[in-house]
Amino acid sequence: MEIIIAKNQEEVSKIAASQIIKEINKKKCFVLGLATGDTPLDTYKELIKAYKNGKVDFKDVKTFNLDEYLNIGKNDVNSYNYYMHHNLFDHINIKSENIHLLSSDSKDFRNTAIKYDKLINENNGIDLQILGIGINGHIGFNEPDNKLLLDTHITDLAQKTLEQNSKFFPDIYKMPKQAITMGLGTIMRAKKILLLVTGERKAPVIAKCLRNNEINTDIPASTLLLHNNLTILLDEEAASIYLKEKKMKENENFNKKYPNYKREFNTA
Ligand code: PGA
Repeated sequence: MEIIIAKNQEEVSKIAASQIIKEINKKKCFVLGLATGDTPLDTYKELIKAYKNGKVDFKDVKTFNLDEYLNIGKNDVNSYNYYMHHNLFDHINIKSENIHLLSSDSKDFRNTAIKYDKLINENNGIDLQILGIGINGHIGFNEPDNKLLLDTHITDLAQKTLEQNSKFFPDIYKMPKQAITMGLGTIMRAKKILLLVTGERKAPVIAKCLRNNEINTDIPASTLLLHNNLTILLDEEAASIYLKEKKMKENENFNKKYPNYKREFNTA
C-alpha cells in the first residue's frame, strides 16, 4: 500500500489524473473503473484538460461505474448516468459502446448485477479502479454492516448516506433509498486501486480505517487494505487525524525503546 499526502484537493486531482493517464497510456485496451460524488470531480476536469491537450486518448478505453441509485431516471440530474456524461464522457472521445453504467430502472436487478460482473470478467477485469470513501466508510454503496457482499448487488442505503446525499434531493420523499453497487469482491479484483480522500470531513473515517491495521466490516473501506496494489491519495486536511495518530504512535515506540531519553514530540 502506498499513501500519498498532497497539499490540497487541487494537488490530489492533478496527481490522480496523472496516475490514471500513465496507466491508460501503458495499455491498448484499458478498463477503467469510475466513481461519482464530489471527490473525483476535479480529477475528471484534469482528465478532460489532458485529453484536449493530446496527452491521453480514450478511443480504446472501456469504463465500468461503481454504482447507481435504483429507480431514478437516467436523465435525472442526480443519476450517476447523468453525472458521468455531464462531468466526463461528453467531453472526451470515449465510444458510447465502451461506457458501462449500472442500470437504474431495470425490471430485473438481480440479472443486471450478474451480467455486470460477467461483463467485467469478459473484459479481463478492471485495470484501475478509482474510489472515494463515504463518511461512514462505505465504498461504492457497500455500507457498514456485519457482513459485506462480494458481487454486484442491490442494497439499502445507510442512514448516514441518506443524510449526506439528501442535499441533492429537495424532496426527501423522492430520494432513492436503495442502490445497485459493485460488491467488494468485484472492486478488489481490480488490478490497481486509487482511493481519493479529500477534506476535513473525511479525516475521522480515514484515520479509523488506517488505525489498527485490521479489516472491520463497520468500515467497508478497510477491506482495501488487503489489496496488493492500493494507493491512497489524501489531501492534508483529510490526512490530519491519521498523521497526528501516527506521530503519537512513533513517540510511544521511541519512548518505550529509549526510556531514559523520554521526551515530548510536537504532535500539532
Ligand atoms: P463524496 O462521496 O465524494 O461526495 O464525498 C464519496 C462517497 O460517498 O463514496
